Amino acid sequence: MVNWTTSKLIGLKGKRKITVLTAYDYPAAKLIDEAGIPVILVGDSLGMTVLGYDSTVPVTMEQMLHHVKAVTRAVKQSLVIADMPFGSYQNPSMALANATRFMKEAGAHAVKLEGGKTQVEIIRCLRDNGIPVCGHIGLTPQHVHALGGYRVQGRGSEAAEKLKKDARALQDAGVFAMVLEVIPKDLAAEITEEISVPTIGIGAGPDCDGQVLVLNDLLGQNSELHPKFVKAYADIETTMREAFSQFRKEVEGGDFPETKHSYD
Ligand code: KIV
Repeated sequence: MVNWTTSKLIGLKGKRKITVLTAYDYPAAKLIDEAGIPVILVGDSLGMTVLGYDSTVPVTMEQMLHHVKAVTRAVKQSLVIADMPFGSYQNPSMALANATRFMKEAGAHAVKLEGGKTQVEIIRCLRDNGIPVCGHIGLTPQHVHALGGYRVQGRGSEAAEKLKKDARALQDAGVFAMVLEVIPKDLAAEITEEISVPTIGIGAGPDCDGQVLVLNDLLGQNSELHPKFVKAYADIETTMREAFSQFRKEVEGGDFPETKHSYD
């Protein structure tokens, strides 16, 4: 049993901001857990950050299960949310079967799925079967082809009103939190004010109840994409490049291994 629960997170609303970070493997999850970050999201962003796809659309249940298992093996304190991949929750019974695999086979504590009002029946079904659900509205990357690209959502009064309705629908369906991705900061603030469960922002300004970042963005391991909302807290890419090239130089130059690296 981990330290962080969905009810503890709900209790933080309005009191303390909630930090969420993605992880896809054992070593990163161990350090994130030890750093006291309450929530680890095994995001389907793994398709782009780790598996080399150009969107999250191709990610499969089997790939997600493989990575969720690695993360839960490392975790002692953090709540682990498994992201339902595209096509794995097209109706309540399919969603229930797949979410159950995340909980039962991979040890996840909750699942996340993208979409607003249209997902209400699915969320109710999962919740009624004991599976906590985190919602995700605004820019929903699994719908990148339908949205026509990765762009700010909820601009203009009609789009903003639709997002507010989606947020209310998710709340009423029983989510324990919802991600607000790439929406205007004032709209995120209004939703956060109105909704009783925590909002977790990414590209949604400073007024959400919490903030999520993709691990590789936080570490500075993503030299090609630099969305405005990302903050890199390290430059791991440069560190890795330097280490790889130093290793090659030392092997080619006969400087590594030395005697001290050898057995008699
Ligand atoms: O897949 C993911 O990492 C996500 C976050 C960006 C919220 O959905």
